[in-house]
This record gives sequence, structure tokens and C-alpha cells, in this order.
Amino acid sequence: MTDRPERPVEHPLWEQWSAANAARRTAEGPQAERLQKVLATRGWGSRRVCEDLIAAGRVTVNGEVAVLGRRVDPDVDVVEVDGAPVGTKADLVHYLLNKPAGIVTTASDTHGRRTVVGLVPAEPRVYPVGRLDADTEGLLLLTNDGAWANHIAHPSSGVEKEYLATVVGRVSPGALRQLRDGVELDDGVTAPAVVSQPEPGVVRLTIHEGRNRQVRRMCEAVGHPVERLVRVRIGPLRDQRLAPGAWRSLTPDEVIALAQNLKRHP
Ligand code: URA
Repeated sequence: MTDRPERPVEHPLWEQWSAANAARRTAEGPQAERLQKVLATRGWGSRRVCEDLIAAGRVTVNGEVAVLGRRVDPDVDVVEVDGAPVGTKADLVHYLLNKPAGIVTTASDTHGRRTVVGLVPAEPRVYPVGRLDADTEGLLLLTNDGAWANHIAHPSSGVEKEYLATVVGRVSPGALRQLRDGVELDDGVTAPAVVSQPEPGVVRLTIHEGRNRQVRRMCEAVGHPVERLVRVRIGPLRDQRLAPGAWRSLTPDEVIALAQNLKRHP
């Protein structure tokens, strides 16, 4: 036996870090707010409705089902309702832009071309969710909400996108069927699509894949090159009143509706 005083156990740094983080996560500290209040301020309904969501086990915090009375730190915790992320930071923005032709979908362009980011406020810095070709027009989302954007843009999300394509020539019923059933492209056969021809030479296509220049290549493959392409819907979002080049903020309901609209495709 030795009478040397026992040294306090020193945990490895990563353990100290995660313990501190866990303490912070469950903190009743100044950052922590009641979960139902956070949900209510993000548009999930009255506090009562949000309490019911929590009581029904539909809300998770950092992957764990939350219980009533739970507090969260909006800067740290990942809150989800039915698996859809709820942006909890107050400074998150979600824009819907009607992109005109001739504008590139990047955050910054090395060739000095006009970018979609240049059409919305410079602060806070936002990024496009997915992309439209420079010559494609129509609806595009931009946000600084990384979790929301990843959720929506992920190939498995299956968010429907609807396009109106003005094509060369009148499309035969056989070609429409081909577009509907799947077209052989150099990167594989396209998934089944919803396709119609509302007027001769205009094709309405709804797809949930997001391959490069997909609609143009599909139409070209059935013998009808695209002359003009406009995206008119993303999931539940349409907006015929948004002028080319104009943008607006999504409402909290739209932010949620879009995240909930996801269909998982293998
Ligand atoms: N399909 C295309 O061909 N181009 C786009 O910009 C979007 C979908």
C-alpha cells in the first residue's frame, strides 16, 4: 500500500469535450428554450399543438425522441418533426427565386457571369439548393440552412420538380409514353415521369431525379430538342406571381411543407 494521494482521473480530451457538449445540450442554461416554444416560433402551430406533437413522440432532439419539458439550445441541437429538420436558428433564411435565363446557378462564378446569389440579399450569405442550367428559367431555392438544404437536395429525397419544356415539333403519343416510362440516357434509364402535352410542342414533365440537364437530354433522346425550359414547381411550391428575377422568403409553413414532402426513393 502506498499513502500517495490519489490523483483525480483525467479523462482524455475528446471525452471532456463530449461531456461538456452533452452538458450544454441538456443545459437549462441561458441558451436553452422550451422545445414547444421553439417549434411554435418556427411555425408548427400554437404551443398547445406543439406540446401534442411532442407528447405523440413525433419530435426528436439530436436523434432521440423528446419528452415534454425538454429544453433545447437553438444553436446546438438538431430538432426534427417526423424526421424533417426544424431550423432552430433565428437567422436562417429560405428564399424562392424565379431565375431568369442567362444567370448561372453558383455562389460565385470564375468567369464573371451573373449568378443567382447576386439576385438575392448579400447578407446573410446563401447558397442555391440544387441547380438549374444557365439557360433554364423558373423556381430555385436558396438558403443558409444547411441541414434543410441537404435534406431536400439529397438524391434520395425524391422531391418532385415540374417543368414546362417548349420543344421542337409536336410530340407523338409514342414519344410521350417513352418519356413517361423511362428514356435511355448515357448515364442510365430515367425513372418513370409524369408527362403530358398541354399544347402542341409544349411538354409538362414531373421528375424526382436531379441528373445533369436531365429534361433537355430526355426530350432530345425522343427527337424533340428543348427550346425553352421553365421549372414551375418544387415539391408543394408554385408561384406564378413571382416575376423573372424576383424572389421572396418562404413562409414557415412552406419551409416545413417542403421538408415533409420528401419521398424516399431507393
Ligand atoms: N433539366 C434540365 O435539363 N435542365 C435544368 O436546368 C433542370 C432540369
